[in-house]
Amino acid sequence: MVLSVTGFNPRSLTVKVLFLGTTFTLLLLLYINTNPSFLTSTSFRGDRFDRLPGTCPARAYANGQWTGPHYLTNDRIMTNETQALAFAGFEGCASSREFDWHLASDNEEQFDRFPDAQSYRWTVGPKDGCEGLEELNKEKMVRDMVEQGGWLLLGDSITEGHFFSLSCVLYPHVVATPVYTPKSYFDRTWPQNLYLNPDSPLVKDLYLPPGFNMTGTPLVTFRRVDLLLTKEELVDLHNTLHPDTTADFSLFSEEAVWSLSPTYYMPLFFEGNYSTMVVSTGGHWTTTLFGGYGKDKPAAFHGAKLGIDGVLDFFGHAMRKWADDVQGALKEAARKDEGKRKRQVLVRAYLPGHDACHGNKKPWKEVYTPLWASYNWGSIWRYNEVFENIITDVPEKYPDLHYLAIERPGRLRPDAHATGDCLHIMVGAGVMEGWTHYIWHYVSKELGRSRHSRVNT
Ligand SMILES: *[C@@H]1O[C@H](CO)[C@@H](O)[C@H](O)[C@H]1NC(C)=O
Ligand SMILES: *[C@@H]1O[C@H](CO)[C@@H](O)[C@H](O)[C@H]1NC(C)=O
Ligand SMILES: *[C@@H]1O[C@H](CO)[C@@H](O)[C@H](O)[C@H]1NC(C)=O
Repeated sequence: MVLSVTGFNPRSLTVKVLFLGTTFTLLLLLYINTNPSFLTSTSFRGDRFDRLPGTCPARAYANGQWTGPHYLTNDRIMTNETQALAFAGFEGCASSREFDWHLASDNEEQFDRFPDAQSYRWTVGPKDGCEGLEELNKEKMVRDMVEQGGWLLLGDSITEGHFFSLSCVLYPHVVATPVYTPKSYFDRTWPQNLYLNPDSPLVKDLYLPPGFNMTGTPLVTFRRVDLLLTKEELVDLHNTLHPDTTADFSLFSEEAVWSLSPTYYMPLFFEGNYSTMVVSTGGHWTTTLFGGYGKDKPAAFHGAKLGIDGVLDFFGHAMRKWADDVQGALKEAARKDEGKRKRQVLVRAYLPGHDACHGNKKPWKEVYTPLWASYNWGSIWRYNEVFENIITDVPEKYPDLHYLAIERPGRLRPDAHATGDCLHIMVGAGVMEGWTHYIWHYVSKELGRSRHSRVNT
């Protein structure tokens, strides 16, 4: 899961970064002196920095390719599940939830996928339009999360996997709650947290901001939020959009779903002193959960489209409401704390599964779109497109919301799924670790967060 940049030359990069940093600071100081509204302006954070040319925009990052296998150990055969960690380059994982399932080491019949699946690197460089992507460095990541605020991850079970992956990437500098014991009951609504490990050698060198509490300020939190809005909010929205809906229409089927309201998680985001909220949704927007749109159902309101087209239409309305609500809450929070704390919301493109995935033993070179796909996997690109258009069509509208089109590396990895299904992703194969790498790059470099805090302190 080691990620590398081709043509990376640390020395010349450092010189360039220093030079750019100095020029940038001078320009910024000039700007602050001539524009007193600068420090309280909320648009500063999303807006002006976004307009600086990025060093590695999301689509450039996604332009790379998988190279390898580059093995990290001398072992070529897996005989014991404990080898999975070393194959992936992890020292351990802080989370204890479904440990072997996440690492895809829970089925001996698939041990032959190791260590190859763990040994490909996402390789991207200037030819892809990506420069200045620093190697993933867990010590620097932990420092950034402590000093500038942690990450709140909201999404479905795929995002839950991303949380587990972070618990491995940042190990041993973090500890995880809650502690799960094998085969014991757990509830999907339980929050999962990573905190700074008080025994980490990093602690003595960290600057702990005022109010930072090692056991009370999470560096990463996962909350299960499949749809980004609650069922009740979605039913209300649907009624408002289609007042002529017939009385026997029911938007949702009985299918299980977990979701929370922005009125619940935005206060959590602010009070938890996070700086980055990462959301992703798509997999649960199916015609089985949204049973009212099933092909076998009658059209229940004027102009109703049935099937996935109807769900997609409604998804567009719902995500527009979501973006309005979330941007509104961010503006209000920035007004209250006079823009002192930088916060951003990232929408990570959703990743579809690969049917019959377990026959694949290698990454693909190009995305292959099959004629038929399970669930709504064949339409995920349409959900992503709708969400991206909402966020980016009018750039001033949602200055603190950012769309990250970084799904391509995962789309090229049919070989990197969990043992029991073809949607969930194996922790340690580089897919979810790549999300972490890019998100870290994006918030610390593309959005100029580090520069902002350095100027202010
Ligand atoms: C792997 O090794 C651990 C510790 O050495 C042991 O407890 C476990 O049973 C082994 N698993 C298998 C499948 O042999
Ligand atoms: C730190 O957080 C823990 C857990 O939430 C809490 O019990 C403790 O009182 C907090 N300490 C301080 C100094 O706020
Ligand atoms: C957030 O920061 C404030 C001080 O800025 C502090 O009072 C509060 O306890 C912190 N909360 C958490 C969860 O860290």
